[in-house]
This record gives sequence, structure tokens and C-alpha cells, in this order.
Amino acid sequence: MKKLIIRGGKPLNGEITINGAKNSVVALIPAAVLADSEVVLEGVPDINDVYSLLEILEDFNVKTHFENGVLRIDPSEMVSIPMPTGKIQSLRASYYFMGATLSKFGEGVIGLPGGCFLGPRPIDQHIKAFRSLGAEVKEEYGVVTLKTEEEGLQGTRIYMDVVSVGATINTILGSVKAKGRTIIENAAREPEIIDVVTLLNKMGANIRGAGTSEIRIEGVTELKGTTHSIIPDRIEAGTYISAAVAMGEKIRINNVIYEHIESFIAKLDEMGAKMEIGEDYIIVHKSENLRMVDVKTLPYPGFATDLQQPFTPLMLTTHGEGTIIDTIYPQRVKHLPELIRMGANVKVDGDIIRIKGPSKLTGAPVKASDLRAGACLVIAGLIAEGETEITGIENILRGYSNIVSKLRNIGADIEMIDDSEGTETE
Ligand code: EPU
Repeated sequence: MKKLIIRGGKPLNGEITINGAKNSVVALIPAAVLADSEVVLEGVPDINDVYSLLEILEDFNVKTHFENGVLRIDPSEMVSIPMPTGKIQSLRASYYFMGATLSKFGEGVIGLPGGCFLGPRPIDQHIKAFRSLGAEVKEEYGVVTLKTEEEGLQGTRIYMDVVSVGATINTILGSVKAKGRTIIENAAREPEIIDVVTLLNKMGANIRGAGTSEIRIEGVTELKGTTHSIIPDRIEAGTYISAAVAMGEKIRINNVIYEHIESFIAKLDEMGAKMEIGEDYIIVHKSENLRMVDVKTLPYPGFATDLQQPFTPLMLTTHGEGTIIDTIYPQRVKHLPELIRMGANVKVDGDIIRIKGPSKLTGAPVKASDLRAGACLVIAGLIAEGETEITGIENILRGYSNIVSKLRNIGADIEMIDDSEGTETE
């Protein structure tokens, strides 16, 4: 079993470069299969979610080549086959193959997606959108079966009852070749949606309004290959910035789009963190006497739910009492019992997480139950006195590329060991 061992309390110094966004690439890959020739994605992170998607593509007879962050996808011989089980269940984003196969073949059989447990994660808005476009959708035995009649998908107006990243992207994928105009109202506005639309438009799609709450799609008949560079991962950036504010002497984070993390940086300002914002980088200086803050997660451009867990250990170093309310996933709290084991003064009070700082954290054996809980525990381990052993790290490797080497480069005492062999692996 792979584990991370962190000996905390070390001051951090140096530079970290952010990779392409996980939540973009997991949508860009299914979007790319809509082309009739090769799509080249640049800046692809080396993460397990990407490898899972590549296995799914192989099953669909899509040829791929992934080297040095460049992913070549040739979907010209893609076949329509059912994907009820297997890798499709290992990640959330596999639901994008519902929209993609519906668009490409007019049909699809896709197992319900897996991914991190964050409380209930329904896909009713995805299904509603496919039905509005004219697809017949059946959901039974953990599988979604999609079909279209002879006349194919028809553009329509779809109002999203909740603001959903996945449902917005899936509706775009499903409607990009539908006849006529589709309008998505109350669409999500995340940068990853703009990234997917940028790729699709380069492929020949006609989509306007990405980044606003109304997206208009004029159906096209053909989509062709192209080359696209992925936006930087704003959640990876926020994770390392949190670590830097907690333990950094001077850390430069490269390849950051400030506008994508504005609400997060505003919260750090409120805390009293010392930062310098550059054109595509942020320098974090040694920050002392930080103030406690209250956090409420919201759809973009609000404070991202994906950052509330990595931000929590930093809150624990500050003075005062604060709260976190995660309005997107109120049950995203599985990191808290592990933090408590490390000495954190936190408690869950209904839908409110109450935090008292400063809490003196000490190393302990803890388990990463999901991706961002894992990132939270890594930061807690960097802060804590003594040794922290983190299991469940397959969850972390799903979304953070080269996390061990990136942290070692800035002076962290962290290693990944494989218990079964007793050897260091990265
Ligand atoms: N929702 C519904 N019905 C739906 C879809 C969503 O009720 O049909 C609800 C969800 O339960 C949630 C809210 O709407 O309360 C927002 O969910 P959303 O659909 O936006 O989430 P998602 O698309 O499944 C993506 C990211 C998550 C991130 C959320 C919120 C991907 C692959 N995943 O999930 O990322 O937390 O948006 O920003 O893009 C992560 O990276 O760690 C992660 C979990």
C-alpha cells in the first residue's frame, strides 16, 4: 500500500509550477472524441484521472499518445459500444461520455459515475437536458441508456434548476451537433466551461456565452481536429498557495490566472497574508499573525468548494473563531475527523463547520477519504510537528501531479513509500 510520510514544521522556500486543470482536462478528453480527426491537448497533467480516461478511450477504439504533457487523441475510428462498468465507474467525469456518445452516435450506454464521496451527487439535470434535446433516457441498474429517434437531437431552451458544472458541460456536448439553437439558462460559469467551449469552437462548433449564465449553441454538422492548451489548475494553485501561506518563507507559484482565484485571494487578504500578484504568478511572503476568517463556498466566481478542505489547515493556524459553510457540498467533511486526530479544534454543527485557532497540530496516521481531503491532510502534515502518515493516497494521485517532487523542491520533508515493498516510490 502506498503512503505519504511527512515530517512537518519545515519552512518552505522556492518555486512551484501549476499544471493544466484537472477539471478541464477530464471534460476536454470526452469533448475531443467529437472530432473526426486528431485533437492535440497541451499541458495535460500527469494524474490518474487522465490515465483512467485513456483506458476508457482505448475501449472505444480511440487511439491516444500521451508524452510530456501532450496528449494526442485520434477518434477517427471510434466505435459505439456500451460502457456499463469498469473504468467508467472510477471517476466522476466519465459522465461526459453520456453527452459525447449521444452527440457522436445518437446513443450511449454509460455506467453511473464514481468519484469522490461528497454527499449525494445527483445527475438529474444532465438527464433533464438530454431529454429536452429529444433523447430517450433510461436510468436503471446503475446504467444510463441514451437513444435518439431518426430525426436526431433538436436544439431547445434548457433551464438548469441548479448551477452545475457537469450538467452545463454535458448539455453543451449533447447539443453541439443538435439541429438548430440550444440555449442553456442558469448555466455554470466556471473557467473550465470556457476552456471546453474554446476547444469545441476551435473544432468548428458555434457556441457563445461561455462564462456567463446563458450559453447559446448553434448546432453544426461536423467537428474537426485541432490543438488546444489547457488552462492552469486553479484548485492546484489554491492548494499550494494555502501551504505557502501556512509554512512559506518566500514561495513563487507560477502559471496562475489570478482572475480564476480572485475570491480565494480576497479571503487570504482578509486573513492578512502577504502576497505579490504578478501577470501569471503569485509570490507568497512569510505571513505572521494571521486573522481567522469565515468561508462560504459558492458557484464560480465565489469561493470554490474544492478549496475549502485544503484551506482548513491554514485557518487552524490563525487566531480566533471562524466558520466554513459549504453550500455546494454540505457533507464534504470527511477530512475533519482526521484533522481532529492531529489536534485540530473543529466541529460540525449542522451545515456549519466551526473552527477555533490556533490549534497545535501534531503528526498522526490519517486517511485521505477523497481528493481534496487528501490535499488538506498533506498541508496539515506540513504544518504539524512530528511525523504524519497518510494512507488512501490513490485519492490524491487522481488529481495532483508530482505532488511529492513539487513539495520537496520547496523544502518539504515528504516521501511516498510503498509498504508492500518498503521502498520509496517518488
Ligand atoms: N447537482 C444536482 N443535480 C445535477 C448536478 C448537480 O443537484 O444534475 C448539484 C450537486 O449535488 C451539487 C451542485 O449541484 O450540490 C453542484 O454540482 P456540480 O454538478 O457543479 O458538480 P460536478 O460537475 O459533479 C464539478 C467538479 C467537482 C467540483 C464541483 C463543484 C469535475 C469533474 N468535478 O463536479 O470537483 O467540486 O464541480 O464545483 O469537474 C474536485 O475536483 O475535487 C471535485 C470534486
